Amino acid sequence: MASSEASLLYEGKAKRVFKTKIPDQVLVHFKNDVTAFNSKKHAELKFKGSLNCQISAFIFKFLEENDIPTHFLNIQDDCWMLAQKVDVIPLEIVVRNIATGSLCKETPLKSGEELPKPLIDLYYKDDALDDPLLTDARLDLLGLVSSSQKMEIKSVALKVNSCLKDLFKKIDLLLVDFKLEMGLNRKGQLLVADEISPDTCRIWDINVQNQDDRILDKDRFRKDLGGVMDAYSEVWRRLNKSI
Ligand code: TMP
Ligand code: ASP
Repeated sequence: MASSEASLLYEGKAKRVFKTKIPDQVLVHFKNDVTAFNSKKHAELKFKGSLNCQISAFIFKFLEENDIPTHFLNIQDDCWMLAQKVDVIPLEIVVRNIATGSLCKETPLKSGEELPKPLIDLYYKDDALDDPLLTDARLDLLGLVSSSQKMEIKSVALKVNSCLKDLFKKIDLLLVDFKLEMGLNRKGQLLVADEISPDTCRIWDINVQNQDDRILDKDRFRKDLGGVMDAYSEVWRRLNKSI
């Protein structure tokens, strides 16, 4: 698919979004760029775009089958996804099952501790502000969503968590935490948008004890562990085994 066929609407760190001839649809191009720490660290990884596009498509289809509406329409080519156009809500919706990452930097919890119930953390999506964690009062103050939308966002996030945890468990993967983005389509329907991939999830191999070796997600890049694409390929291989 040639990007010149469509005009660019938005370019993010890992994806580009293009207009199509149909006003309610966009083409999403998954790039090979990988960034961390708000782009302080950057690299290009061959096949990353294609793997994340295929993995995201697989997961979106799975969520749709479980009655969770997403922006996904179909795959156009190995790095190109056709999706419904949404107004993205500027929130990074993080669901955590196991303590690690920023939760352990900001609380006394130790990495690997199982949480008594899933924790939802909402961050304000704004690179210039470094995506700050929001309190409930600050979320209300900013008026980004109504109180019923806030409840719906949390309920969808928990449903995604429960579906994906079960799916991953079947293929011996532990869903540690993940980030979602949501948006509203023209009809005002709330859809899970963006991507769900090893770039946006923490996924551990249940059969591996070593704390670094078990990592099958972007933490391999963040922590300079190497083998990033081997890990993403392994997630893709196992997802295909789940059907
Ligand atoms: P954190 O522990 O660094 O807050 O990350 C929580 C989850 O969110 C983890 O699965 C990685 C994902 N994430 C993103 O997808 N994008 C981001 O910009 C950040 C900070 C985290
Ligand atoms: N996505 C963010 C960045 O590109 C941070 C991260 O995923 O660690 O900088």
